[in-house]
Amino acid sequence: MVAQFNHPDLQVVILAAGKGVRMRSVKPKVLHKVLGRGLLEHVLHTVESLAPKGISVVVGFGGKSVREYIGTPRGLDWVEQREQLGTAHAVLQCEKGCENSGHVLIVCGDTPLLSGQTLAMLVAAHNAADASVSVLSVDLDAPGGYGRILRKQDGDFVGIVEEKDADAAQKVIAEISSGIFCVRTADLFKLLHQVESDNAQGEYYLPDIVSLAVSQGLRVQAVKGDDAAEILGVNDRSQLAEAEAVMQWRIIRDWQTNGVSIEQPETVRIEASVSIGVDTVIRAGTQLIGSTHVGDECFIGPYAILMDAWLDDRVEVFSFSHIASASVGAGASVGPFARLRPEAELDEDVHIGNFVEVKKSVIGRGSKVNHLSYVGDTIMGSGCNVGAGTITCNYDGANKHQTVIGDGVFVGSDTKLIAPIKVGNNATIGAGSIISKAVKAGGLTLSARPEQRHMSNWQRPSKKKD
Ligand code: UD1
Ligand code: MG
Repeated sequence: MVAQFNHPDLQVVILAAGKGVRMRSVKPKVLHKVLGRGLLEHVLHTVESLAPKGISVVVGFGGKSVREYIGTPRGLDWVEQREQLGTAHAVLQCEKGCENSGHVLIVCGDTPLLSGQTLAMLVAAHNAADASVSVLSVDLDAPGGYGRILRKQDGDFVGIVEEKDADAAQKVIAEISSGIFCVRTADLFKLLHQVESDNAQGEYYLPDIVSLAVSQGLRVQAVKGDDAAEILGVNDRSQLAEAEAVMQWRIIRDWQTNGVSIEQPETVRIEASVSIGVDTVIRAGTQLIGSTHVGDECFIGPYAILMDAWLDDRVEVFSFSHIASASVGAGASVGPFARLRPEAELDEDVHIGNFVEVKKSVIGRGSKVNHLSYVGDTIMGSGCNVGAGTITCNYDGANKHQTVIGDGVFVGSDTKLIAPIKVGNNATIGAGSIISKAVKAGGLTLSARPEQRHMSNWQRPSKKKD
């Protein structure tokens, strides 16, 4: 869905080495998730849409876990910043990777709401002005925490002051730095070598390249973006939740625009990697998590949870059903109150009803398991009807065993199928049977039942009177 821009002269640097102290977490900040994707993963998706020459990611704190989480997509260059001495120091570590580029676009790994359009706009403005340093700025009602844009009386941009170094007059400045810079490569590394750490945090600040560039007569500009939400930097858990809320509305609007109906959208969770077909209805309280795919004309919820699920077209999932790492064929229905566990595969037109659990099983076309059953480690053919309370007894306390059921089988209610077991095509099993030997095709198979007795002179107990 993201536009593909083309920037063959541009190296992107993503800063992701910080610990993120304000998150109060044992894991690196950029691995915290917003709608199922790590902060850094969101930023990577966005910068990939620019189609740049290459992407350098600076990691430090928890670098190994960050690399493991992301893997190594094409064109990605991991750079280590051993000590986190500040954002200028972090960019300096990328000098080699930036060597053959004309310009460097620097973004922070903690800004998940940033769009490719905004970055492309900054780069275009940078090129149009033939600037040395361009920074993306926005006006904020509550600018607290961000670096402020300093301008001379005539409006000329002359520097950035960090919150912690700002005086009272500077703190009321509404125009803030997004922390996103586009800089001519040849100037960038000259300037970075001149940055000093004589500030409140004793760090090498990337924003200091602005005042250095100004003092050397280089062209600088602050390019104003119009969407303040986009530059939200996630530094603590409340900003994490804020970013998630903004992104959730964007995702919901996108799906609405693409032909999906969403009832009571404020109650629904649809994560970033989910896909949904046209004319599908997502009902209140439903959560679509991870890499879930929902086909066309489906009807999901209310209050259904789908995690890494794959649903073909015209599937109905009724209320309070839970589907995880399972697939559902076209025209099938699930629930209410059903649970599909990993590796459950339902073929077309299968019916799974209330209080039924299916795990690691294939259920053939048109088969029905409508009430109160457990189907595990089973291969079931097509056109079967499994009665209420049927259990595949797949576990002997140490190992799991398989149940294989042919086509057109009828399993009477309250049957126990003790695996490993095979049931032939078109077999009928009588209600209440305990089946421990192979069932022949066709005919009726049933196990011995306790004798039925009648006591005509029996009396119901009645309550004692005091
Ligand atoms: C930074 C900017 C501030 C801007 C704000 C926008 C600086 C000094 N300040 O502040 O002007 O308004 O972003 O959100 O640049 N990092 C490293 N190595 C380091 C330090 C930081 O890689 O040594 C990374 C962090 O992981 C993070 C990014 O740089 O992704 C920004 O650092 P952070 O601590 O979040 O800076 P802010 O205080 O938000
Ligand atoms: Mg930040």
